[in-house]
Amino acid sequence: MISKSLTETAAIAREFASRLEPATSGATIVALSGELGSGKTTFAKSFAAAFGVFEDDVTSPTFVIEKRFTIDASKVGRTNWKTLIHIDAYRLESAADVEKLHWNETVADPSNLILVEWPERIGDALPANAIRIKFSHIDGSAEGEREISFK
Ligand SMILES: Nc1ncnc2c1ncn2[C@@H]1O[C@H](COP(=O)(O)OP(=O)(O)O)[C@@H](O)[C@H]1O
Ligand SMILES: [Mg+2]
Repeated sequence: MISKSLTETAAIAREFASRLEPATSGATIVALSGELGSGKTTFAKSFAAAFGVFEDDVTSPTFVIEKRFTIDASKVGRTNWKTLIHIDAYRLESAADVEKLHWNETVADPSNLILVEWPERIGDALPANAIRIKFSHIDGSAEGEREISFK
């Protein structure tokens, strides 16, 4: 998809959140990859808002590797998601680093809904069933355009 603005990225995130199905085992994980400034955090914040979670701008996850929030029970439909976890793995160096964040227990728990920015930093620690979304700047286009691809 092509997003022409911050507002469009926010709308794409809300729409994605409303259609997301729980993983068949363990936590539901959404991996957000793409270079700096491509829109990962913008997407994550609107996704979180769809679950009644409003992340403040002061504690940007660039400085806090992991943030956990209680999901608004009225926003989860028939799923049993309870905790939204937003990880920015930019400053992690290996799968061993993410294990220090109780990663194994976190990904095993079906009540967890996890967003991971910079998933490539944690290598094989990212479960194979993670949903992958890739953000890119579009060469030669206006500054406000981003490509968002789902696979
Ligand atoms: N279509 C767009 N979608 C998302 N962000 C955009 C878009 N156009 C411009 N921007 C700007 O790009 C920046 C994206 O920042 P951010 O979401 O923090 O990126 P990342 O987490 O990938 O580093 C913001 O400053 C935002 O205003
Ligand atoms: Mg970011």
